Amino acid sequence: MDKFFGNLHRVLLAGVVLAILVAIILHLDQIGTHAFWAFVIRWIHVWFGILWIGLLYYFNFVQMPSMPKIPDEQKPAIGKVIAPEALFYFRWAAAGTVLFGLLTALMNGYLVEALTFRGGFATIGIGMWLALIMAANVWFVIWPNQKKALGIVQADADAKKAAARTAMLASRTNTLLSIAMLYCMVAQQNVG
Ligand code: HEM
Repeated sequence: MDKFFGNLHRVLLAGVVLAILVAIILHLDQIGTHAFWAFVIRWIHVWFGILWIGLLYYFNFVQMPSMPKIPDEQKPAIGKVIAPEALFYFRWAAAGTVLFGLLTALMNGYLVEALTFRGGFATIGIGMWLALIMAANVWFVIWPNQKKALGIVQADADAKKAAARTAMLASRTNTLLSIAMLYCMVAQQNVG
């Protein structure tokens, strides 16, 4: 029991097996259709989205507000251990979300229309652009600046401080954008 639940990889694998069983029980008759595979890609997209935005909210709701309350000698536990690990899953979850989101739009046959706000796909188009801005923020602003702030790459004390501030502003910007982004993601299927 402990051996199983103590191992994240085994637990994740069991989660996938359970999902496949659910799919077989509920949707066996649809497995040969394009619509089913477009749905599977969308499901994987949302899974990556949860991992990404979950970690964004962890940074903004938990880690950033807690840092000033942590004694200086304990700060390296966050800066050297937890934050680099969280940032690894954070940036690759962002990449996975973008990849499977674009694939979803492609499989739904409206990628170009959505990105150009045409053909009744303006809602998801706005959501996709908001999320693309957020992903660019992750890869081109937050991650390079966090590398300096956390000492993964060399930087002097002033540069570290400036980098931490830039990363914080970009992270807070993403938190702001995430609410309208998610509105658009969920609205397309429901209110158009
Ligand atoms: C650049 C990044 C993204 C792209 C290209 C993208 C694209 C898409 C597309 C095309 C859909 C299907 C819309 C439809 O026709 O109903 C969708 C749905 C969705 N996306 Fe995204 N998305 C992105 C980021 C995100 C993020 C960050 C989240 C956060 C969790 C997210 C969550 C969702 C959800 C919950 C749905 C609704 C699924 C449903 O109603 O069935 N997406 N996305």
